[in-house]
Amino acid sequence: MSHSVLVTGGAGFIGSNFVHLLMRERPDWNVVNLDSLTYAGNLENLVALENNPRYRFVHGDIRRPADVARAFDACGKGEIRVVHFAAESHVDRSIESGLPFVETNVVGTQVLLDESRARKVARFVHVSTDEVYGSLGEQGFFTEDSPIQPNSPYSASKAASDMLVRAAVHTHDFPALITRCSNNYGPYQFPEKLIPLLIANASEDKSIPVYGDGMNVRDWLYVEDHCEAILAVLERGSAGEVYNIGGHNEYPNLAIVKRVLAELGKPDSLIRYVKDRPGHDRRYAIDAGKIERDLGWRPRHTFEVALPLTVRWYQSQHAWLQRVRNGAYREYYARQYGS
Ligand code: NAD
Ligand code: DAU
Repeated sequence: MSHSVLVTGGAGFIGSNFVHLLMRERPDWNVVNLDSLTYAGNLENLVALENNPRYRFVHGDIRRPADVARAFDACGKGEIRVVHFAAESHVDRSIESGLPFVETNVVGTQVLLDESRARKVARFVHVSTDEVYGSLGEQGFFTEDSPIQPNSPYSASKAASDMLVRAAVHTHDFPALITRCSNNYGPYQFPEKLIPLLIANASEDKSIPVYGDGMNVRDWLYVEDHCEAILAVLERGSAGEVYNIGGHNEYPNLAIVKRVLAELGKPDSLIRYVKDRPGHDRRYAIDAGKIERDLGWRPRHTFEVALPLTVRWYQSQHAWLQRVRNGAYREYYARQYGS
């Protein structure tokens, strides 16, 4: 019998990398991608798969039960597993307006859970974030047992969706698993996020907006490593469990900015300190011991190799960058940074 994976948000940054990984590494599986194509969804990321009979794109919204049902219908009769990426994902946008985050991340997740239960899916991987744990001081790491203390409307909406998944497991014995990953970087990331934004701006000798003192710390993971971790959880994780995913790769933002500028041969004088992000979490750092021990996953890419790879990718994708930075993004950029 055929085996299908329904991926939500597969036209976004991590989702499209994951769809490519599945198509490459699991040649017996069919993949259905349900995506509503918000500003962050881009089918260009998947153009190489357009004529592949194992891949189907369904244009639809996870908030609409009829759209979700159509995506399940496209999966056919065999066993179905769900990997749920679709979300509003940018913290600054959630500060500007929280409602779309509640609608997609909370309501959309419940709609997807209900239909997934009705279809008796074999597994449901909910892709969450380390931001649900809040912020760390100078020491320590987030474990799966850290308290849930989200600080932004984005992370609060993700935490709410995690709780709905947990409730489905507890109440309905639903076979869901939750992953919580740190900051990703790599190909196809929308240039509102720090690393692609700074590569795009610096390449054009535009200033690099650094929030506050630039000393907020993030734990960076190459997107392919994250996708491999999700596949390990999908195939070998225990239902009902939470798995943290991270690369033990912490840097203050300023160090990232200077490193990318050096990689591009651009001067530090492009750095512009701007008003801090309201409620800006100071430090994230993941203890990924559980997924390493239980599932044997480890990141394969070091920062030394994957950051230059990422810079080269964006340099070679000038046309892609131009196309995703359309009118709507330019308006958002002007509101956010005042120019
Ligand atoms: P992204 O913003 O690049 O992509 C989100 C995708 O979801 C887009 O293709 C968009 O069109 C789609 N989408 C949005 N609303 C939808 C809706 N209502 N119905 C259907 N599709 C919809 O996001 P990303 O950075 O790839 O993140 C993917 C997931 O991973 C998110 O759930 C995010 O919370 C989580 N995550 C991201 C990171 C990171 O560093 N980017 C780290 C940890 C976890
Ligand atoms: O930790 C996982 C999370 O990582 C994901 O859940 C989110 O979806 C993803 O967007 C990301 O959230 P961050 O807020 O950490 O990522 P962002 O790229 O927006 O910012 C990274 C750091 O850089 C953060 O400390 C804010 C800072 N920053 C960001 C931008 C866009 C700047 O200093 N200047 C900027 O212009």
